[in-house]
Amino acid sequence: MTLPLHVTDLMVRSPRGAPLLVLPHLRLGAGQSLGIRGPSGAGKTTLLHALAGLADHVSGQVRWGETNLVAPSMAQRAAFRARHIGLIFQDFLLFDELGPLANAAIAALYAPKNQRDRLRSAAEQRLQGLGINSETRTVASFSGGERQRVAVARALAHDPGILLADEPTASLDREAADRLAQDLATLSREGGKTLIVVSHDAVLLDRMDRVLTLRDGGPA
Ligand SMILES: Nc1ncnc2c1ncn2[C@@H]1O[C@H](COP(=O)(O)OP(=O)(O)OP(=O)(O)O)[C@@H](O)[C@H]1O
Ligand SMILES: [Mg+2]
Repeated sequence: MTLPLHVTDLMVRSPRGAPLLVLPHLRLGAGQSLGIRGPSGAGKTTLLHALAGLADHVSGQVRWGETNLVAPSMAQRAAFRARHIGLIFQDFLLFDELGPLANAAIAALYAPKNQRDRLRSAAEQRLQGLGINSETRTVASFSGGERQRVAVARALAHDPGILLADEPTASLDREAADRLAQDLATLSREGGKTLIVVSHDAVLLDRMDRVLTLRDGGPA
């Protein structure tokens, strides 16, 4: 299921209380796509984490449909993420001791038994589509681009309605980056997923319905 986003009076602070990000208002319709750009340190990753319910010291509202992700407990936020959100982190956060399929299907470890096979085969299909052989060595020796593609497969394995990606094309060569940009845009346009992508990549940003520019912890 895909959900609209409605952010109001969002403020994210550092653990010491310094404001890192202030965003008075952001609206995105269900199934729409948004690019976020801005210089290093502008607050792009901070915003993406707040939208995923991963940030602490947050005030205001981050509403996905009827759920305000600022209010609930950590466990409730995790449950919402598991059901609705696919995340591609800036540093991928893969398990080096596991292979690509085990990484991409990591959600199967804590999913109910009757969903595990479906998750594994979805992860395997995504890997295949991204040109990664699922029966290979552990990801420890994978290149940056290969790790990135495993992270994309993992984000999509549970078929989330919302996809949040932090610099998803940064480690890819031009051709692979263009292919991924096209795939992400198609997921949103045809798959109806709400897509939010932090990027410096003009090709990727061009494919988004809208682009938000951040500077110094707020809209530019
Ligand atoms: N826990 C924290 N405590 C203090 N400052 C923080 C904390 N987390 C992030 N910051 C600061 O907040 C600012 C925004 O960080 P953020 O990671 O959101 O930037 P970014 O726009 O994603 O940059 P990049 O393009 O380099 O990834 C940075 O100056 C960063 O140092
Ligand atoms: Mg960042």
